[in-house]
Amino acid sequence: MRKRRENVYLDNGATSFPKAPGVGEAMCQYIERVGRNVGRGSYAPAMDAAGQVLSVREKLQKLVNAPSSRNVLFTPGATWGLNLLLHGLLRPGDKVLTSPMEHNAVLRPLEQLKARGVEVELLPCTGRGELSLDGLEEKLTSNIRAVVLTHASNVSGNLFPIGTVGRLCRARGIFFLVDAAQTLGALPVDMTDMGIDGLAFPGHKGLLGPQGIGGLAVTDALAAELEPLVSGGTGSMSESLHMPPFLPDKLEPGTLNLPGIMGLGAALDYLLEQGEELRQRERKLARHLWYRLKELDGEGLRVLGSDDPYNRVGVVSVDFTHADNAEMAFRLEQEYGIQTRCGLHCAPLAHQTLGTFPQGAVRFSIGPFTTFGELDYMEGAIEALL
Ligand SMILES: Cc1ncc(COP(=O)(O)O)c(C=O)c1O
Repeated sequence: MRKRRENVYLDNGATSFPKAPGVGEAMCQYIERVGRNVGRGSYAPAMDAAGQVLSVREKLQKLVNAPSSRNVLFTPGATWGLNLLLHGLLRPGDKVLTSPMEHNAVLRPLEQLKARGVEVELLPCTGRGELSLDGLEEKLTSNIRAVVLTHASNVSGNLFPIGTVGRLCRARGIFFLVDAAQTLGALPVDMTDMGIDGLAFPGHKGLLGPQGIGGLAVTDALAAELEPLVSGGTGSMSESLHMPPFLPDKLEPGTLNLPGIMGLGAALDYLLEQGEELRQRERKLARHLWYRLKELDGEGLRVLGSDDPYNRVGVVSVDFTHADNAEMAFRLEQEYGIQTRCGLHCAPLAHQTLGTFPQGAVRFSIGPFTTFGELDYMEGAIEALL
């Protein structure tokens, strides 16, 4: 086996690293040279900063094809956006459909809502974590308030047929809420075409931005039904003790994470500049990762998820069949410098579905800056350990 390489980072599913060039500089520039709040003072530097915030909102609107830039809200991340959607929309007596492949950012708020009288039904998935569409149309009845699904599982890396489900929901007036934590930036997402009413995403994964900033895109119909979870100052309608009824102010209280927005803006500029080329490279890397691990399938490990190398993002989890998963992850890091994530990945029902509960699995996840050589090295390291 080749010499130990330092820092082969294969945990981009948790957060991407490195970030897009220019992210750190944009954040630093805001903190050190601008520093003014937006939507409050009307002096020139504050107005300039407000203009920059608007331009990031507009870039996100174009990226996800939201109805308008005011339909894009800044949030601290996907978790916050999903909570806003679920707690803001669902009332006692409502029924919601979801899947067992969801992250705890969906499952935990739903569990809280269950205790308050919301009915939650899990749609069936195969043992490979694929959503079964059989019988779905019959389940989409008038008593369903919303369907909430992840675009890609953060355990198997497989994609769900979001467009198909979204269009079924739209035709029936059912709100469709999507967790795009593992896809936005890596794959195209068109909320209008895919029938999505609420799209939550983090800035720090596929968008290659900093932690602590993310977004939530909502249709007007959904926004009208959402109760703000947090109320406070917006710099608008200050005479009123109620949140303004219009977007984004209705759902965006308090001072925004301005350094985060500036960093996210720089990341979006980079992604736009790189265009389809970067996405294609990432998709090729995702397949390369899958093929490298699949070569070892049955030789001391089991690759989780579906057998389709194309219907996936760059996340692959494996269950070591003759060794302890945690020990393998530890040795990969200690002996080869390969950083992965072992455990249940905040998705306990996904692991139950895939047959890896409670032991969990070892997750390998690439980003656009991973190299093909690193993935070959990873395969060699696993082979050597096995
Ligand atoms: C599928 C999925 N949903 C939601 C989240 C939560 O994202 P964040 O921690 O940025 O709020 C994650 C993060 O790992 C995820 O993988």
